[in-house]
Amino acid sequence: MSIRFSALLSFVLIYTFSFAGEGMWLPFLLKSMNEAEMKSMGMKMNAEDIYSVNQGSLKDAIVHFGGFCTAEVISDKGLILTNHHCGYDAIQSHSTLESNYLKEGYWAERMSDEKPNQGLYATFIVRIEDVTSKVTSGVDAGMTAKERQSMIDVNIARLLASIPKEAYQEASIKPFFEGNDFYMFVTETYRDVRLVGAPPESIGKFGADTDNWVWPRHTGDFSLFRIYAGPDNKPAEYSPDNKPLKPRHFLPISLDGIDEGDFTLVFGFPGKTNQYLPAVAVDQIARVIDPARIGVRDISLGIMDRRMRENEDNRLALAVKYASLANSWKKWIGEAQGLISTGAVENIQAEEKKFMMDLQKNKTNNATYGEILPKLNQLYKEIEPYAYNRTIIAEAIGGSNIEVFKLTQYAERLIRSFKESGNQGYTQMSSRVLAQLDDFYDGYRPEVDREVFVALTAHLKEKLSNEFYPSILATVGPNLLKNIYDESIWASKEKLIEHINQGGGALTSFLEQDAAFQIYMELKNVMDQKLSPSYNVINDQIQFLLTQYMTALKTTYPDQRFWPDANNTMRVTYGQVEEYEPRDGVEYKTQTYLDGVMEKYVPGDYEFDVHPKLIQLYNEKDYGPYAENGKLPVCFIASNHTTGGNSGSPAIDAYGNLIGINFDRVWEGTMSDLYYDRSICRNIMVDIRYVLFVVDKFAGASHLVEEMKLVHPKA
Ligand code: ARG
Ligand code: GLU
Repeated sequence: MSIRFSALLSFVLIYTFSFAGEGMWLPFLLKSMNEAEMKSMGMKMNAEDIYSVNQGSLKDAIVHFGGFCTAEVISDKGLILTNHHCGYDAIQSHSTLESNYLKEGYWAERMSDEKPNQGLYATFIVRIEDVTSKVTSGVDAGMTAKERQSMIDVNIARLLASIPKEAYQEASIKPFFEGNDFYMFVTETYRDVRLVGAPPESIGKFGADTDNWVWPRHTGDFSLFRIYAGPDNKPAEYSPDNKPLKPRHFLPISLDGIDEGDFTLVFGFPGKTNQYLPAVAVDQIARVIDPARIGVRDISLGIMDRRMRENEDNRLALAVKYASLANSWKKWIGEAQGLISTGAVENIQAEEKKFMMDLQKNKTNNATYGEILPKLNQLYKEIEPYAYNRTIIAEAIGGSNIEVFKLTQYAERLIRSFKESGNQGYTQMSSRVLAQLDDFYDGYRPEVDREVFVALTAHLKEKLSNEFYPSILATVGPNLLKNIYDESIWASKEKLIEHINQGGGALTSFLEQDAAFQIYMELKNVMDQKLSPSYNVINDQIQFLLTQYMTALKTTYPDQRFWPDANNTMRVTYGQVEEYEPRDGVEYKTQTYLDGVMEKYVPGDYEFDVHPKLIQLYNEKDYGPYAENGKLPVCFIASNHTTGGNSGSPAIDAYGNLIGINFDRVWEGTMSDLYYDRSICRNIMVDIRYVLFVVDKFAGASHLVEEMKLVHPKA
């Protein structure tokens, strides 16, 4: 149930209190907006303990990990914890055939064994400020979208130049509430982040794609890193002389576990939500956009899955690509189904109807905002054919569904650099492209791609509207396929490199005759010339109206709490440990145990194999101090509103102790990016006791546990 537009304040209070859970809140506004509710849900801290500029607080233990995940500091020596899937690239980059850390895990015995990772960073938030009035000074309602934006840009540039901060700090200003509000972030980024430990994939990725987005879950999705600082404890580039960071705060770890109804807080960097879309837009996503992209991936993933099961070579080559395509694919399926099963569109429509009525109570507001929703309804209808066809073509040429198009895309960039900046531009671009080719060809299986190519070109014929179907696709037949996959320059790395090295002029004229390149360019031209221009014109109008819609909502309901859509900035979300009913007659419990790992065990299977050491510990029930009534907890769920980017986020108890690491959502609730429903939206966390058990009992890395501060808040 959404709480977005309730009108009466008293009603809002009762209503939001009983349906709390929705929202990704700004840490610096908790005191005024959330503290009372959080306490009513069981929190024992104050807002100041979570976010403070003056004293160490929880926020000082939270970092943006590489800009794509969250991590938390858990010792006074800069030890940080994140997900295995967040550390995956780092773990993989240190792996070789002889020491395969993905397969076997990795545990640094001493600090000198901790492994540096070029390009990986950890960003702390020093302070957040509302700078809306300064950023919007001079902006008035009569301005066009363009005029408004350039005024804002000028103000932001001036502000950033004058912000008080240290030399080692950065500042940025980001728009919130569709560009109605602006907040400034002062940050410190540490660029020496080393790998400390990771369990084998059979723990860290247990269940892999089959279990992904699914509850009940049994994955030990964690890895350990350490932040290193210069001699003054300030950010420094990598150096062997750097010292472990002394943090302003680190999270104590609770050994007391969770009970039904416990307060939980998740602190991190959620990426993107669209919580204030009108019903017409949500309907379009559920009915048109999600099915369009799911349809393309159904085909490519189906082929890849069959081929991966044929032999180990295919499996290894395609695993990463498959996992990344399947992750969004599975989420979209859950999202579309969840929107339908919760009646999201009808519910938002009802809210809109109420909004229109409330608007009419105030003449001025009605005159200013009354046309927004009718116009949005019209514009979303107009944009639909463009949005639909774009989605399909983007999947075909942009995703990694058809692999050979990744190569033609490189080639297109090469040619463009040559046209735009001659030999110099070409040389620069080709060194970038050449650097990627080894990786590409390692995972490239032309016979699999050929099959995907055939199936998807047929799919495009069936699904694209006639006016957007490039006729060249009709020429795809055995000869052309033979050319693309057996004879062309894409067929071998050596041939491609040879042609790239012949220079921009030669490559340009050569590619004029190349079949795959022509097909790619025709698809791209449909996108760039027939679809995007119209799409962008309509979309600009939509974005402008969405900004006004947000203003209208806030004006019409001045007493209501609104939270801004996620935008990769630091947020707090809170909920409770809660069961849910995914379907009629089915109830899901909140906690899983190691027994469930053993239930799912399939010897030798790449998703459900179990490490012999783990089996032994299970058989001997050798769980150390980490068990609960003789059973070892593995994962749990709660009603925290999270999204992509919250991976690795700490789950924190009522007192500020770490109880788990967020890593996923339940499938039935993945529509929460658009529409949160507390009855079925749950986030999934690894129980911190499983993490400690794996580090201590499974890996024997007890020196790491000794660094941490273990507490018993419930005792
Ligand atoms: N679904 C989680 C997320 O969106 C986990 C993804 C990684 N795991 C996997 N099996 N692909 O990031
Ligand atoms: N696995 C996601 C991530 O990488 C978190 C799951 C979600 O989308 O909620 O951030």
